[in-house]
Amino acid sequence: MHASHLGVLLSGLLVSAKSASASSILFSGGTIIAFDRATNSLDVIRNGSVLVTDDRITSVFAGSIPPSSVSIPSDVEEVDITNKILTPGFIDTHRHGWQTAYKTLGSNTSLVDYFNRFGEFPTAANYPFTPEEIYYSQLAGLYEALNAGVTTTLDHAHGTFSNATSSASFQASIDSGARVFWAYAFHELENYPLSEQFAHYRSIFTEAPHLNTPTTLGIAYDGFGPNPNQEIISTIISLTHETNASVLTTHSVQGPYGITNSPEDFAAQSLFTSIPPTTPIVFSHASFLSAVGAQLLRTYNHTISITPESEMHYGHTHPTSHLILDRASIGVDTHFTFSTDILTQTRMWLQSVRRLLYAEVLNRWQVPVNNPMSANQAFLLATRNGGLSLRREDLGIIAPGAKADLVIWDGGTGPNMWGWRDPVAAVVLHGNIGDVEGVVVDGRWKKRGGKLTDERFEDVKMKFAEVARRVQDRVVEAGVGLPGEGERFVVSGLEFGNSTVVDVQVGEGDGYGGLFL
Ligand SMILES: *[C@@H]1O[C@H](CO)[C@@H](O)[C@H](O)[C@H]1NC(C)=O
Ligand SMILES: *[C@@H]1O[C@H](CO)[C@@H](O)[C@H](O)[C@H]1NC(C)=O
Ligand SMILES: *[C@@H]1O[C@H](CO)[C@@H](O)[C@H](O)[C@H]1NC(C)=O
Ligand SMILES: *[C@@H]1O[C@H](CO)[C@@H](O)[C@H](O)[C@H]1NC(C)=O
Ligand SMILES: *[C@@H]1O[C@H](CO)[C@@H](O)[C@H](O)[C@H]1NC(C)=O
Ligand SMILES: *[C@@H]1O[C@H](CO)[C@@H](O)[C@H](O)[C@H]1NC(C)=O
Ligand SMILES: [Zn+2]
Repeated sequence: MHASHLGVLLSGLLVSAKSASASSILFSGGTIIAFDRATNSLDVIRNGSVLVTDDRITSVFAGSIPPSSVSIPSDVEEVDITNKILTPGFIDTHRHGWQTAYKTLGSNTSLVDYFNRFGEFPTAANYPFTPEEIYYSQLAGLYEALNAGVTTTLDHAHGTFSNATSSASFQASIDSGARVFWAYAFHELENYPLSEQFAHYRSIFTEAPHLNTPTTLGIAYDGFGPNPNQEIISTIISLTHETNASVLTTHSVQGPYGITNSPEDFAAQSLFTSIPPTTPIVFSHASFLSAVGAQLLRTYNHTISITPESEMHYGHTHPTSHLILDRASIGVDTHFTFSTDILTQTRMWLQSVRRLLYAEVLNRWQVPVNNPMSANQAFLLATRNGGLSLRREDLGIIAPGAKADLVIWDGGTGPNMWGWRDPVAAVVLHGNIGDVEGVVVDGRWKKRGGKLTDERFEDVKMKFAEVARRVQDRVVEAGVGLPGEGERFVVSGLEFGNSTVVDVQVGEGDGYGGLFL
């Protein structure tokens, strides 16, 4: 081998050996959207630096010369972020990672149709995923999240169809390197009794494959109301204590749906005071949350996850959610049907709240003069509020002591980001996933130079493509199953109604075309 080639090789090896042992990264010269705990607000530092040591942010300072109190390790990895924006990673507080393989099958689905075709129960009964299918579906879904700058996900993991699929979903979460609050969903399935689910959850906890990774173990359950089963619930409460569950989450969709799981249900069963104080409760959607429910959330310090796009796509809506933003964060939900990134969700939520509150003024025949919700508030919902939903003061912020979960936004290559002055507005209102140049979780690179760093990337891409094709064939074959004449919604017993279809086309037909499956 030619000597200079050897030299290149050797220096390559040295570089990689150095970065493998380096436990610190110094980002410098960029705009940092930091958080000031003293003033409880965002703090924009222009030409600032962030020092990461292992999994934590150890220092945040203006300029590139550290103050005398900060020592920079000699083997630090220096990353120049001049002209770029550094933000905390986004936090998604509601998602079902295993469903990635259903992508595009639900483009015009309704909640009723979803329950019949794509939910945990029809899937388990009619076309259960194999462990391999769950694994790649979950992993590909987490790649999607990481690629989009989402570093933390609360996964309501209801792909728990057997011990093997449950373990596969958990293992994929761990293998992704993302920060996953993986909430084992307990549900009544024909072929997988609850007793076995509980035993398996305990065995996962004991075996602890997630030890020393950013993934934690939590619980999901949707049977708190109406008609709760006391015995099951008391087992679940015991399990939260036994395993110090990192989160307890439930789907709450009230109104005509009647899938209550409401704060009132929790209060009626004294559940707020019987779970461990370290276990936060996240009520996903909280559609039709009442004033009393909101008060309970404030009293007991629990939160809701607003999933703006899903609540519009499916029709559970969110008529009161804007009134409880002090106890709210943002989630995605069934990302096989729509966008997977928290940035898009947050922007949709911001603009829909504005529309709603402007309408209140217009409806009194007045002309709105001020703007009801700020880009800053939207940014906080997507970041710090997610951390607070998970009772984690160290997530969703850039501040000393916080976890090193970071996103580098390319501040100017794309014309969409040219000319910004306010970096918060630039990200919230002008940014897109294409601007996410780098992602760090727990102090480790997950995306760099615009590409995911996972060495299994190509392999996962191929395996997932096969899995998605297989899974989709099964569902398409089974066909669409809208409810028949005279049927009622099973939970609330209410009648079904048709929405007005607005599709229209110049010429023949109404534009309500077929699905291109
Ligand atoms: C950033 O701060 C450093 C001092 O810490 C200074 O040398 C440098 O010129 C500054 N860069 C810009 C673009 O202002
Ligand atoms: C599932 O796991 C639990 C706990 O380890 C065990 O008791 C049960 O037998 C397992 N079920 C099967 C079918 O292997
Ligand atoms: C329970 O977990 C929380 C973090 O979720 C941690 O702060 C606490 O120390 C744990 N408690 C026990 C008893 O392990
Ligand atoms: C609620 O929980 C958050 C997150 O842990 C914490 O910052 C806050 O102080 C708590 N508030 C109350 C009133 O306990
Ligand atoms: C909704 O409209 C379809 C098509 O016109 C019809 O077949 C169905 O019975 C209607 N459903 C209800 C609940 O009215
Ligand atoms: C979605 O579109 C297909 C094809 O046009 C139709 O058969 C199906 O009923 C629609 N589903 C819903 C829930 O509207
Ligand atoms: Zn959901």
